Amino acid sequence: MNNEVLKALRERRSVRAFKAEQIKDEELKAVLEAGIYAPTGMGRQDPWIVAVQDPKIVAQLVRMNAAIMGVQSNPYYGAPTIVLVFASRPEKWFTSIYDGTLVLGNMMNAAYAAGLGSCWIHREREMFDTEEGKQLMKQFGLPDDLMGIGSIALGYPAAELAPAKPRKADYYRIIR
Ligand SMILES: Cc1cc2nc3c(=O)[nH]c(=O)nc-3n(C[C@H](O)[C@H](O)[C@H](O)COP(=O)(O)O)c2cc1C
Repeated sequence: MNNEVLKALRERRSVRAFKAEQIKDEELKAVLEAGIYAPTGMGRQDPWIVAVQDPKIVAQLVRMNAAIMGVQSNPYYGAPTIVLVFASRPEKWFTSIYDGTLVLGNMMNAAYAAGLGSCWIHREREMFDTEEGKQLMKQFGLPDDLMGIGSIALGYPAAELAPAKPRKADYYRIIR
């Protein structure tokens, strides 16, 4: 089927090298808008999104994530924007992790469609379970009983997209 949306869904790939130049506000907004229209369990709109462009806070997130990963490198690959997704703890809302994951998925696909590069970066759950993470959440003005779901590193790609790995042969089946 020849359709721009379907093409973008097939062609989006993770980007792990970014230009230092910040993205335009309209580009960021397009990504965030795609996130907030993701489906959520019972339409509750449980997740919370925080786009960080303050270089000091970006550096803090880099340090916190790298500490959990146990590396010296930048886990966000130098992206100038980090979009964090939070949601209720699963004991409080049973679809919270699924909801947050779809928000992240929508934003990555939108980023590609808008000509940006993105990559899901993990470990937000552990980062925001620390005292430092809880302080940051307070600084962001979030309720204090949320958990980190994940994040995307966002920016202009500084390298060609790697081709997709071949899909496993039995990925889907159609039962008729
Ligand atoms: C739940 C999840 C966690 C991920 N965490 C990371 C991460 O911490 N760092 C990273 O570089 N990529 C991460 N990725 C990106 C995957 O490695 C990537 O999506 C996968 O290799 C397929 O490549 P593609 O996105 O280009 O299709 C994560 C992806 C998912 C879905």
